[in-house]
Amino acid sequence: MEYTAVTDPAAAGRELDDLAPVYEAVFAEPPYLEGPRDVAEFLQRYQSEHKTPGFRLITAREHGELVGFAYGLPLSSGTGWWEGFTDGTVLPDGFAREDGHRTFVVMELAVLADRRGHGVGTALHDTLLREANGAERIALAVRPEAPAAAWYERLGYQLVGLTQPWDGAPVYRSMTKTLPV
Ligand SMILES: CC(C)(COP(=O)(O)OP(=O)(O)OC[C@H]1O[C@@H](n2cnc3c(N)ncnc32)[C@H](O)[C@@H]1OP(=O)(O)O)[C@@H](O)C(=O)NCCC(=O)NCCS
Repeated sequence: MEYTAVTDPAAAGRELDDLAPVYEAVFAEPPYLEGPRDVAEFLQRYQSEHKTPGFRLITAREHGELVGFAYGLPLSSGTGWWEGFTDGTVLPDGFAREDGHRTFVVMELAVLADRRGHGVGTALHDTLLREANGAERIALAVRPEAPAAAWYERLGYQLVGLTQPWDGAPVYRSMTKTLPV
C-alpha cells in the first residue's frame, strides 16, 4: 500500500477525480445511504476545503488504484463547528475558541469495503495527523450508528456531545482527542 500526503492546493484539487468514486461507493453504504445529491455536495465542499490553509489529504493506493483516503483541515476563528448541540451540552469556557491552529478536524476518512480490516484506515488516520500543524486537539463528527463511531473510540476519541450541524441534518457524535504537547 502506498500512502501519499498532499498539501499543495492544486495537487489536492487534481485528486478529486479519483476521490469521488471512492466517496460515492463508501457513503452509499448504511447508515449513510448517500445518493447523487450528497456526492455533488461532497464535490462542492471539497472544492473550497482543499484551498483552506493547513488542508491535508492522505491517499492510499494499491497498484495505482485509490482504495482509501482521509483529509482534514484546521478550524478558523470564525468556525461554527462547536455550535448545534442537541443534547444540552454546555462547553466549558474557552473550549470553542479557535485560532486556525488549535483544532485539526478529520473531515473525511473512507476505505473501500473490500479493503477494510487490514490497517489501511488506521494508517490513513495516523498519517493524516502526523503533521497536524501543532494542533492541540483533533475533532471529528461521526454518525452514532456507524461502525466508525466505536472505531474512533478505540483510537482514543471522546464524546463532546451530540450535534446537528444544519437543519434537517442527521445527528452526529462530536468527538475530540487531545494531542500530546
Ligand atoms: C472507518 C474505516 C475508515 C476503517 O477502515 P479500515 O481500513 O477497516 O480500518 P483498520 O483496518 O485500520 O481497522 C479496522 C479493524 O481492523 C483491524 N485490523 C486488522 N488487521 C490490521 C492491521 N494489519 N493493522 C491494524 N489493524 C488491523 C483493526 O484492529 C481494527 O479493529 P477494530 O475495529 O476492532 O479497531 C472504514 O470502516 C470505512 O471506510 N467506513 C465507512 C466510512 C466511514 O464511516 N468513515 C468514517 C466517518 S467519516
